[in-house]
Amino acid sequence: MDKHARRVTVVEVGPRDGLQNESAPVPTDAKIAFIEALAAAGLPVVETTSFVNPKAVPQLADATQVMQGVRRRPGVRYLALVPNEKGLRRALDAEVGAIALFTAATDVFAQANVGTTVDGTFDRFIPVVARAREAGCWVRGYVSVAFGCPYAGDVAPEAAVAVAERLFALGCDEVSIADTIGVATPDSTARLLAAAGALPIERLALHFHDTGGRALDNVATALARGVRIFDASAGGLGGCPFAPGAPGNLATEALLDMLDHAGYETGVDTTAVAGATARLRACLAASAPTGP
Ligand code: HMG
Ligand code: MG
Repeated sequence: MDKHARRVTVVEVGPRDGLQNESAPVPTDAKIAFIEALAAAGLPVVETTSFVNPKAVPQLADATQVMQGVRRRPGVRYLALVPNEKGLRRALDAEVGAIALFTAATDVFAQANVGTTVDGTFDRFIPVVARAREAGCWVRGYVSVAFGCPYAGDVAPEAAVAVAERLFALGCDEVSIADTIGVATPDSTARLLAAAGALPIERLALHFHDTGGRALDNVATALARGVRIFDASAGGLGGCPFAPGAPGNLATEALLDMLDHAGYETGVDTTAVAGATARLRACLAASAPTGP
């Protein structure tokens, strides 16, 4: 493998995808310390928070304070989820430089997650992308439930890929195809990537939740087919409050170990990530509600 082919980008989503699903309240300072530790560990992208309706996701209601409180390291991309124009205004006020839009492969999931159809999400995205571009933001797009939907069941790979194509056509710099409920297998990963032949593979990410314990096998399948960007969550924290049964994401530490053993380079210090996870877990344990 040449040097270029060995390089893998790990996108850390724990502070957003992980913490959005935690029932124990996490103090803003602890979130900031977690994010700073992950960036210091060498992770090049840290999905930091989410500018959604705080009534829908109270865990991330402190998005502005978190974004403004993090001491930003040069060269690290601090991503924030943005669902609509209001979210973008809040994000820009907090000096966000990279946003992530999110839609889905099925209308029924989009409706549960963001209260509109897939087409409806794109209607919202058009002005958001235009304004984000004016502000110089980098833009990621997500396709949720690309391998299976908790409401609609099986999802055809072509349907998921069609939504990814729309996100690229809209102007996304990168698109992450997500297995929201962790049902992907190496076979379905291979089928999806076969259907995705027309997409720019160097700007395509995969985002596996680990319900079935197959996330690492799926990553191996995708690596063999040229994908070099993978999302993961420190300690495997996470899920989606609008996707019943969605477990944690693939753990960053497990992904880093696997990539290291297979001869890939990430530039990330796994021990430092594990330290960040341990400190966050101690904080979660301290603030967990005690039983009656
Ligand atoms: P809506 O109800 O259609 O919006 O929500 P609305 O325009 O009718 O507004 C309703 C209320 O929300 C109003 O406030 C708005 O001001 C407020 P009220 O008058 O009731 O006081 N509002 C906002 N407040 C703050 N920031 C905003 C905002 N927008 C409206 N941006 C909306 C639409 C999308 C906002 C809502 O459905 C929502 O916030 N949903 C949360 C969705 C979410 O965060 N899901 C989890 C993240 S996605 C994910 O985890 C998947 C991923 O990991 C990949 C994968 O694994 O699949 C990325
Ligand atoms: Mg997710």
